[in-house]
Amino acid sequence: MTLEAIKYNPGKLEILDQLQLPHAEHYDTLRTSEDAWHAIKEMRTRGAPAIAIVAALGLAVELFHMDVSNKSAQHVQTFVQEKLDYLVTSRPTAVNLADAAGKLRTVVTSAGGNASGDSIKQAYIRAAEQMLVDDVSDNEAIGKHGATWILEHSKGDQVSVLTHCNTGSLATAGYGTALGVIRSLHAKNALKQAFCTETRPYNQGSRLTSFELVHDQIPATLITDSMAAALLRLKGKSENIAAIVVGADRVAANGDTANKIGTYSLAILARQHNVRFLVAAPRTTIDRSTKSGDDIVIEERPGQEVTVIRGPRVQGGELGPAETVKIAANGINVWNPAFDVTPAELIDGVVTEAGVVEKGSNGVFNFDSIFAP
Ligand code: MRU
Repeated sequence: MTLEAIKYNPGKLEILDQLQLPHAEHYDTLRTSEDAWHAIKEMRTRGAPAIAIVAALGLAVELFHMDVSNKSAQHVQTFVQEKLDYLVTSRPTAVNLADAAGKLRTVVTSAGGNASGDSIKQAYIRAAEQMLVDDVSDNEAIGKHGATWILEHSKGDQVSVLTHCNTGSLATAGYGTALGVIRSLHAKNALKQAFCTETRPYNQGSRLTSFELVHDQIPATLITDSMAAALLRLKGKSENIAAIVVGADRVAANGDTANKIGTYSLAILARQHNVRFLVAAPRTTIDRSTKSGDDIVIEERPGQEVTVIRGPRVQGGELGPAETVKIAANGINVWNPAFDVTPAELIDGVVTEAGVVEKGSNGVFNFDSIFAP
């Protein structure tokens, strides 16, 4: 059975509630853009590509059930634009959401002079549905390019890699970006072991990535975030960690990359231990209008994500509904940035569906070639 974070049929959108994983596999039905906004804000769905697709499809199902036969094209255009403006306020760091909203805005505003309210509605729905389809094929291409690059830059035909956060089927429409690279290595029989970090405080690694790896029977080992340095020291001894491969929420024009908090520490560790450091992301994550990482807005999340953990209650030997447990002293101040920025200098390559971009001889990333028409 394939793991599906997003289930979509025309007029019906369901998301796997990621707050309940790995304890329960529960799907929530989203009927409106408000439902989608809340699911994204509360992180019931998450991951840069998934956020964009859920937002786009949330509005698609809302429109599907709206009778616009008596509405003008302008009425539907204004409605869609207002909803898109609202949806992009759900989470600020991942650019995929703003990118998708921009493309969908163009779809509805560029309709010809004879367009009706209904034709605008249908054009929007078709474009949103296409985003779901394109994401999977883009991820498969990312997986292929990333696996080839890692094998070309490694000794031996079996490698171990380390990843952070969750970038797999749960964070995308399917297959995944960094986790897609791991899936691709595994499919080539070239993966010795995938290591995944716990990824505090939301635990995307221990709750979600390890769930996907076990589900797909990929050889994998979970470590806490604080164990990464010790693991990399084993390179060349018992473990051949060929690369660290992570996803991205926004890659600036100079290659600086915002990704899950803890990514920057891993990039520093990779440099110290002479391990390759790769960012895997679709072109929709590359934001050439943002000059550098200093210009990326980093989302700060509630302190409770750090002071409280969720787990299932045990009732009479059976797992019951989730309960929360406080793991910090009452009254302590908390700083909870959801992302950090890894400087381009520490990144060896950005793996996209159009190939792997490396820095030029001047030490600078240039993404023009993968956006060439
Ligand atoms: O806060 P999250 O879980 O949405 O953060 C997810 C990440 O940082 C991922 O690495 C990134 O979005 C890429 S997912 C393909």
